[in-house]
Amino acid sequence: MSKKLRIGVLASGGGTNLQSIIDRCQDDSLDAEIAVVICNNPGAGALERAAQAGIANRCINHRDFSSRGDFDTAVVSALQESGVELVVLAGFMRIITQTFIDAFPDRVINIHPALLPSFPGLHVQQQAIDYGARFSGCTVHFVDGGVDTGPILIQAVVPVLQDDTAETLAARILEQEHRIYPRAIQLIAENRVHINGRQVSIDPACPASRSAIVNPALED
Ligand code: GRF
Repeated sequence: MSKKLRIGVLASGGGTNLQSIIDRCQDDSLDAEIAVVICNNPGAGALERAAQAGIANRCINHRDFSSRGDFDTAVVSALQESGVELVVLAGFMRIITQTFIDAFPDRVINIHPALLPSFPGLHVQQQAIDYGARFSGCTVHFVDGGVDTGPILIQAVVPVLQDDTAETLAARILEQEHRIYPRAIQLIAENRVHINGRQVSIDPACPASRSAIVNPALED
């Protein structure tokens, strides 16, 4: 059996994305092992989920540090101590510094609940509704120095419905997050992902979906 990719998951909240990764590791559809889960919030549900699954977990509270850089240095050390090869941000609500990116070059990924480059930042489901977008979705991207700006690995699209609230749209998007994040990690575990500037290629290529979707649907 080939060696599993050692990942470190960083989360701030409930940890449903973490759970989807745990589940895929457990059913062996993901050739990765979660070496450590780190949360910046003591009450984070993600810590509980990690403990339940018997995964090493740590709270490193950003409030205990006087600067972003010091916090990042502590998190980077913890990840390195655990032998982490890929850092997976899963609802991690802190902006990471260059120190972090330099420690794991092209080895930090994030999931964002919008179709980047539209709607980076926070409260993006409400922003998509307020803008009148007909589609939103989620994006897994590599993390660079900006906020939600790095090269895109995989995206899923969902319709925005007429009666959507931020909550109903978030739930529709989250369902897709749970599908594409483990998939993105698996592609990296298989060494199939290559970054060239903004382009991310997958080799061998995955079958591409070639049909267009229209919302509202065409009447024919
Ligand atoms: C997800 O929507 C993620 O995209 C965003 O925060 C949410 C975290 O959800 N950054 P969970 O903690 O994984 O349930």
